[in-house]
Amino acid sequence: MALCGFSMLSLFSYLQFALLASFCFAADPFVSNELHVSYITVSPLGVPQQVIAVNGKFPGPPINVTTNNNLAVNVYNELDEDLLLTWSGIQMRRNSWQDGVLGTNCPIPPKWNWTYQFQVKDQIGSFFYFPSINFQRASGGFGPFIINNREIIPIPFAQPDGDIVIMIGDWYTQNHTALRTALDAGKSLGMPDGVLINGKGPFRYNTTLVPDGIEYETFNVDPGKTYRIRVHNVGISTTLNFRIQNHNLLLAETEGYYTIQSNYTQFDIHVGQSYSFLVTMDQNASSDYYVVASARFVNESLWQMVTGVAILHYSNSKGSAAGPLPPPPDDVYDKEASMNQARSVRQNTSASGARPNPQGSFHYGQINITDTYMLKVVPPETINGKTQATINGISFVKPETPFRLADQHNLRGIYKLDFPSKPMNRSPMTDISLINATYKGFIEIVLQNNDTIMQTFHIDGYSAFVVGYSYGNWSEDSRNSYNKWDAISRCTVQVYPEAWTAILISLDNPGVWNLRSENLDKWYLGQETYLRIVNPEENGKTEMAAPANVLYCGALKSLQPEQHQSSATSIFGAENLAGCLG
Ligand SMILES: *[C@@H]1O[C@H](CO)[C@@H](O)[C@H](O)[C@H]1NC(C)=O
Ligand SMILES: *[C@@H]1O[C@H](CO)[C@@H](O)[C@H](O)[C@H]1NC(C)=O
Ligand SMILES: *[C@@H]1O[C@H](CO)[C@@H](O)[C@H](O)[C@H]1NC(C)=O
Ligand SMILES: *[C@@H]1O[C@H](CO)[C@@H](O)[C@H](O)[C@H]1NC(C)=O
Ligand SMILES: *[C@@H]1O[C@H](CO)[C@@H](O)[C@H](O)[C@H]1NC(C)=O
Ligand SMILES: *[C@@H]1O[C@H](CO)[C@@H](O)[C@H](O)[C@H]1NC(C)=O
Ligand SMILES: *[C@@H]1O[C@H](CO)[C@@H](O)[C@H](O)[C@H]1NC(C)=O
Ligand SMILES: *[C@@H]1O[C@H](CO)[C@@H](O)[C@H](O)[C@H]1NC(C)=O
Ligand SMILES: *[C@@H]1O[C@H](CO)[C@@H](O)[C@H](O)[C@H]1NC(C)=O
Ligand SMILES: *[C@@H]1O[C@H](CO)[C@@H](O)[C@H](O)[C@H]1NC(C)=O
Ligand SMILES: *[C@@H]1O[C@H](CO)[C@@H](O)[C@H](O)[C@H]1NC(C)=O
Ligand SMILES: *[C@@H]1O[C@H](CO)[C@@H](O)[C@H](O)[C@H]1NC(C)=O
Repeated sequence: MALCGFSMLSLFSYLQFALLASFCFAADPFVSNELHVSYITVSPLGVPQQVIAVNGKFPGPPINVTTNNNLAVNVYNELDEDLLLTWSGIQMRRNSWQDGVLGTNCPIPPKWNWTYQFQVKDQIGSFFYFPSINFQRASGGFGPFIINNREIIPIPFAQPDGDIVIMIGDWYTQNHTALRTALDAGKSLGMPDGVLINGKGPFRYNTTLVPDGIEYETFNVDPGKTYRIRVHNVGISTTLNFRIQNHNLLLAETEGYYTIQSNYTQFDIHVGQSYSFLVTMDQNASSDYYVVASARFVNESLWQMVTGVAILHYSNSKGSAAGPLPPPPDDVYDKEASMNQARSVRQNTSASGARPNPQGSFHYGQINITDTYMLKVVPPETINGKTQATINGISFVKPETPFRLADQHNLRGIYKLDFPSKPMNRSPMTDISLINATYKGFIEIVLQNNDTIMQTFHIDGYSAFVVGYSYGNWSEDSRNSYNKWDAISRCTVQVYPEAWTAILISLDNPGVWNLRSENLDKWYLGQETYLRIVNPEENGKTEMAAPANVLYCGALKSLQPEQHQSSATSIFGAENLAGCLG
């Protein structure tokens, strides 16, 4: 604690210091960020529209920290509606108070700010942040979140010559409020208007398909160098195939775990997923090269506008990119191709992660499963006259009072703990039903997709071993095909249409954690639940206490004082101010 010393006082008010000191762990450096979330007008696809910027940027600036750093992220809501940022893949150990979804946090009202305080404990890797409510991710508000290794822990490849972040995603020229209105009326969103790469539209590779005057993204590189390229699909519902003309993508990391390094010429990135590739600039630069993110598992001739195109520009390039884009995978009649690619993503079990190996290795395949949850999703259904999306027949109602806060105040009736562990033979319904999961259990979740579209699912607070994917219905025999040795561990998994994905999770992180469809439309329509994981011997030590600045809402709204709206100029734009040890 003493290390979190007085040098900070020049940067922070006493109030803030008091807040922060409560979670500052000795010797782990302290880092502070300010994120101002507001609307700006841009025209990524040639049509002016209001998008959500962070610190005036779209996409937002990176949060770039190191394992075990203590963070204070002061988020200013400068929108005209409630806001919550969530930190996809950041595990918030023992601290679901900072997770930023409606079941854990009250939303930040317009014109208010709220400081998230958390430690990026025992994590490394490539993640992102985004607004978790009101369909806002469809208008932006996202940015990268990088956790670097501590210097004493080696990374399993040579230090790259540079770090490039690429945020790809499907995009509509209608804003999130218009899209919300469509979903509320039971309509589907239809084909997106395009794919953005780092908030920009496509390079004009074809004068018929791309109008003149669109701003595109350029990545400047030097010949012979190797870059770590972190690619995130921050879109709404479209799987994107990512490729760089003439260049191999050497897969190195996914969502915080190092993979067996192997080369791919193209790679499927599903909604919400993150990957690091090492890319060597080994071409002759006779021209620039295309960087492409194209819609996958759709009729390409109908969806050709839904293609993102950026430019890879060598410093010695002899001209601009021209000619056709590198072709997408030609596997219309081979539905195993993408699944085989997914199965090829395996963990490097000898690499160090956030901690040195073998301390970090974990023989998950030898642990007995304590509970199995079969979670089935079907196409959206009508419940009480409204179109809703469900898991096991339950469409989750947006909570008004965060669950652990309700527990702390002994409020009853805020939620039920009866989420079915398998599909039920009954009519679908809306409810606030959580999974009563067992602390320290080792669970198996089978995600069964009975829809005809690709989906991804995300779990907060955890990373899950992805032990199997297959078409058809899961059965107990399916366990024989599980990868019990080097399955990748990650937080966002795809579930192919008419297929299942099985994941294993060690429930060592107490709290209440969101499990959701990462497809934004399905999530908005209720396809989520939470795992409530509480140590039955909770003595105030297993889980962190609510932070001093906790917001109250819903049934506890009367406890919330008005926020003093200071016009004090903040440290706008200052990123990662060094703290304790600085
Ligand atoms: C969103 O679009 C609607 C309809 O085009 C418009 O009325 C509204 O002002 C827009 N809202 C924002 C926040 O951009
Ligand atoms: C993150 O910070 C490290 C130094 O700590 C730097 O090398 C790297 O380029 C930064 N990455 C981004 C994307 O800003
Ligand atoms: C809001 O920001 C101010 C600094 O501008 C800070 O002192 C205060 O603690 C923040 N409020 C919350 C609830 O985090
Ligand atoms: C796995 O990690 C080890 C240790 O860092 C490294 O030497 C090795 O090259 C990696 N193997 C593969 C196949 O990526
Ligand atoms: C541009 O796209 C259109 C529509 O797909 C296609 O007919 C045309 O051949 C393309 N032009 C070039 C130069 O590739
Ligand atoms: C990947 O491809 C590059 C060429 O782009 C090559 O130098 C490298 O050896 C390949 N690595 C593996 C593991 O296949
Ligand atoms: C550069 O590489 C391309 C494709 O590999 C090849 O067609 C071209 O002839 C090469 N140009 C030079 C100047 O070597
Ligand atoms: C794709 O759409 C085009 C245009 O509507 C149609 O002609 C073609 O048959 C479709 N292809 C497939 C495989 O459905
Ligand atoms: C797993 O369960 C089997 C019986 O089903 C038991 O024999 C074995 O000891 C258990 N293993 C562990 C590690 O608990
Ligand atoms: C939740 O599960 C625990 C056992 O893990 C059990 O004791 C408790 O009664 C369950 N709670 C409800 C409401 O079902
Ligand atoms: C979904 O399940 C129903 C029966 O429950 C079955 O008839 C249908 O073929 C399944 N569809 C898909 C796409 O899996
Ligand atoms: C999967 O199970 C459903 C019943 O839940 C059945 O209707 C369907 O035919 C099965 N699909 C396959 C491929 O066996």
